[in-house]
Amino acid sequence: MPNKKEKIKTVNKKKQRGPRVELPQSLRGMSDILPKDELWWKTVWHAGETVSELHNFSFIETPIVEPAALFELGVGASTDIIEKEMYTFRTKGGERVSLRPEGTAPVMRSFLEHHLGYFASPLKAYYVGPMFRYERPQAGRERQHHQWGFEIIGDSDPLYDAQVIIIALDFFKALKLKDITLKINSIGCRVCRPTYKEKLKNYYQSERAKLCRDCERRLEMNPLRLLDCKEEGCRLIRARAPIILDYLCQGCNNHLKSVLELVEDNSINYEPDPYLVRGLDYYSRTVFELVHASSGLALAGGGRYDYLSEILSGRSVPAVGVALGLERIIDTMIKSGNVPHFRTKPKIFFTAVGEQAKKASLRIMSELRSSGIVVVEALGKKSLKAQLKLADKIKAPLALIFGQREVFEKTVIVRNMESGAQETVVIDRLVEEVKKRLKS
Ligand code: HAM
Repeated sequence: MPNKKEKIKTVNKKKQRGPRVELPQSLRGMSDILPKDELWWKTVWHAGETVSELHNFSFIETPIVEPAALFELGVGASTDIIEKEMYTFRTKGGERVSLRPEGTAPVMRSFLEHHLGYFASPLKAYYVGPMFRYERPQAGRERQHHQWGFEIIGDSDPLYDAQVIIIALDFFKALKLKDITLKINSIGCRVCRPTYKEKLKNYYQSERAKLCRDCERRLEMNPLRLLDCKEEGCRLIRARAPIILDYLCQGCNNHLKSVLELVEDNSINYEPDPYLVRGLDYYSRTVFELVHASSGLALAGGGRYDYLSEILSGRSVPAVGVALGLERIIDTMIKSGNVPHFRTKPKIFFTAVGEQAKKASLRIMSELRSSGIVVVEALGKKSLKAQLKLADKIKAPLALIFGQREVFEKTVIVRNMESGAQETVVIDRLVEEVKKRLKS
């Protein structure tokens, strides 16, 4: 026979049990950013905001969903992103739309749609947000990742190519991230690239039998991407392939020379990489990646895209930009032993005891917060002892104690958490008194 206590337990258990449901899990390659990650993300956002402001970039935000055609035209129909990785679907209205796989084409769309060139020439804009690519999830490769991007639209001067590289490096500096190498190349222009592509195609034709499946397709669709293949066999073939630097026209040669001079003037550690072509078709002339030494992962990538505007609108507008991968950056910071250094420490722990005190406490906390004081509370905890224990744990320098008596007297007890000393202060002077104690 179960005793009375056990009976109550069984009844409660039965009450709690609802219908069996399976919790839908997050999708593969898409992660939650959890409260434990907050400081890392704040550190990165803070660095991003600071660097964007120092370089005088304006904020721009474009929608996450865009017409599929924007990316098919802009990024290029024969790239891996468009062929294999786009989240494309039809809306109820029948429009073909895509989750953005990157931010450059949307920013250029917005620039053209809103005639932003009339307001600033060149336009310097930054953005931050999630990008979606249906890739095979692995270390450093998510299906949803976040980028912080910088675009300079409306000028072809090599100075701006160097500026976007410097901005990305300033971002890393602000995060105290070291061991970053600039890999840089030129992929020419409409004048010189076709000749190089032909040479490359001829060379690879002669090696066709040894190519992997993907490269056989690339040979027809997008020969430059042959240089990007990670397969061992294809890498061996690449070692004897012609390199674009031997085929650049005078204009592209001069442009590359100027960018490299500026890079050297700014003491930037760089490696010319004749095989760097990048996975997006809109690039012309300068392409680059910022690679972390130990992981070999590109933490940022960018380049010039002088034809994108023409492809989208028929109007020619030169542009250059860079985007940083935030998950990769945070992961690298954690692995390199960096510490998150952006923190708004709670200054006040507010404790209230009794229903009346709890009700009145919201207004008092609002006043403190309006004066820029970070207040933490645990009003759900009943006893003063439990609340003060938490105050100790979060290491707030002051605790405010508000009970029935204080409600009646319109006062608050201010407790110094280090010494344990307590003083009573009238509510009307609380902000002032708290500020005074926090300063000392
Ligand atoms: P991207 O190189 O494709 O360039 O991406 C920029 C950065 O985002 C990469 O260097 C990497 O750190 C990060 N990233 C890319 N894909 C993933 C992924 N699947 N998982 C995690 N991180 C990833 C662009 O998107 C260009 N729009 C950059 C640009 C701006 N070019 C000119 N302006």
